[in-house]
Amino acid sequence: MGRVRDVLPEVTAIRYVAPLREGGSLPGVVEADDLGTYVAKFVGAGQGVKALAAEVITGELGRRIGLRVPRLVRLAIDPVIGRAEPDEEVQDLLRASGGINLGVDFLPGAIGFDPYAHQIAPDEASTVLWLDAFTQNVDRSWRNPNLLMWHGELWAIDHGASLYFHHNWPRAAAGVHRAYDASDHVLLAQATTLPAVDTRLADLVTPAVLSSVVDLVPDEWLTDPAFDGPAGERAAYVAHLSERLTDRVAWLPKAVAA
Ligand SMILES: Nc1ncnc2c1ncn2[C@@H]1O[C@H](COP(=O)(O)OP(=O)(O)O)[C@@H](O)[C@H]1O
Ligand SMILES: [Mg+2]
Repeated sequence: MGRVRDVLPEVTAIRYVAPLREGGSLPGVVEADDLGTYVAKFVGAGQGVKALAAEVITGELGRRIGLRVPRLVRLAIDPVIGRAEPDEEVQDLLRASGGINLGVDFLPGAIGFDPYAHQIAPDEASTVLWLDAFTQNVDRSWRNPNLLMWHGELWAIDHGASLYFHHNWPRAAAGVHRAYDASDHVLLAQATTLPAVDTRLADLVTPAVLSSVVDLVPDEWLTDPAFDGPAGERAAYVAHLSERLTDRVAWLPKAVAA
């Protein structure tokens, strides 16, 4: 008998509100049957199910290490909610996205983080950089920080480009010790407490914690043909990330001059 696995809460989309044009993957704002408003990241978007798996694993790990990440849910979509939508691109996307999508709690009025305008604590900046280096997230650049300010606090979004090793499982082991190029990272200069944060997170992020966040990826997105089923794919994520964790000197960015 397997152990009981935690799952993300599930809601059902009842109305498509609007596309978020600034996003490359054409996420949309939807209303759901729990009266919540969510950013929908669609299973039928070009980035595919792996981007959604990365959103869950890296986003939920971020939450475990103390970052603010909007609540994530399984978002059930019936493509009929797009029937009245005039935009053909959106129609196509909804048609390709029946079933379980990712819902990200919508933060109304949030604005994009601006490193010149917004002050954040060194420990928080260091924690973001640590997460990105560990998961090889390339989407935290100056041009495209994927950080929001909401009620005066920092929120991390859009982790779909992390964990790129999962695009090629047969060769994934070659990337376990790969260094992270932080030169373009939006918080590099603020991450002045990275060594201390690393020491703390190395104790906090155990294989059990990694298992618990990988558990949250819906089975529906774990369909890589390299595995017999979701259980094997989950185990591969946990093994890869656990091993990466044992060689932090390989990937932790070096301290930057103040
Ligand atoms: N939870 C959210 N609350 C408010 N705005 C959001 C939220 N998630 C995304 N956005 C807005 O939508 C944009 C695109 O979303 P993002 O997740 O970055 O998608 P993409 O993968 O297409 O870049 C973000 O840059 C941000 O402006
Ligand atoms: Mg983005």
